[in-house]
Amino acid sequence: MSRIAYVNGRYVPQRDAAVNVEDRGYQFGDGVYEVIHVHDGRFVDTDLHLARLARSLRELAIARPMEDAALLAVLREVVRRNRIREGIVYMQVSRGVARRDHAFPRDAAPALVITARHGAAFPRDIDAWTGTAVTVPDIRWGRVDIKTVNLLPNCLAKQKAREAGAYEAILIDRDGNVTEGSSTTVWAVDAEGVLRTRHLDHHILPGCTRAAVIALMEAAGIRFEERGLTEAELRAAREIFLTSATSYVKPMVRLDGAAVGDGTPGPVARRLFELFSRHADGAAHNVSRLASFSGIG
Ligand SMILES: Cc1ncc(COP(=O)(O)O)c(C=O)c1O
Repeated sequence: MSRIAYVNGRYVPQRDAAVNVEDRGYQFGDGVYEVIHVHDGRFVDTDLHLARLARSLRELAIARPMEDAALLAVLREVVRRNRIREGIVYMQVSRGVARRDHAFPRDAAPALVITARHGAAFPRDIDAWTGTAVTVPDIRWGRVDIKTVNLLPNCLAKQKAREAGAYEAILIDRDGNVTEGSSTTVWAVDAEGVLRTRHLDHHILPGCTRAAVIALMEAAGIRFEERGLTEAELRAAREIFLTSATSYVKPMVRLDGAAVGDGTPGPVARRLFELFSRHADGAAHNVSRLASFSGIG
């Protein structure tokens, strides 16, 4: 079965799907995107992803291509046409097509592309869901809280990880602080046993999985601090794990070749993996409504 994409109002075979060469997403990276996990035929954390998409568009003054209800209907239709039970749906909105000029065009309509693909079901066993990480310098721009398609530094970082045989590249800023992974939020249980993740500002993406996990922890009375780690604190951590729509809750058992803790998933990652699994399965489906992106600025 050939894959079906949605491109500006039409469902087309993906091999024929194309955008204009003067689309500003292609010319300037002038666009934003979202990735939502599809689990058991349902979207996970839809409200959070749609809220973040709206925020990204607002921050860049790109018009919304359609209201959320209509967008959700198109997302569902793409998933249905591609017969996805487990996988992801990808949506991208660019400022649209205009004669090439850096300044915003006056009359371009936003362009919307949606694709979907099959993927593995969420992991059931955390011990088979571990990975390793390397550290690399964070060379990104100053507004990575906006989920733009400008991902070249993230691609360079992920490539470094791949070349080192690692799953993720953890980014370290110029001051020696951990920001996030190249496509994930970073969490750690520090040497004192405190669960920490960096606060939200313009220098990390406000992860939807991060927001959902925080809501789950608050509901379960699990303590954590929104306080970033230095590179040295990361190296001394008892546990390191990542969250993202596609990484779920993923323990990193080695950092730059050295074992993290005893080199196996720690108790905090186990607990959150369990909570998030139940959430993704729908048992706590509404909990992410509690979460918000307040505090990003
Ligand atoms: C840079 C970055 N940080 C964090 C995340 C995690 O975000 P989410 O949990 O919404 O997938 C992503 C996901 O793509 C990302 O690209």
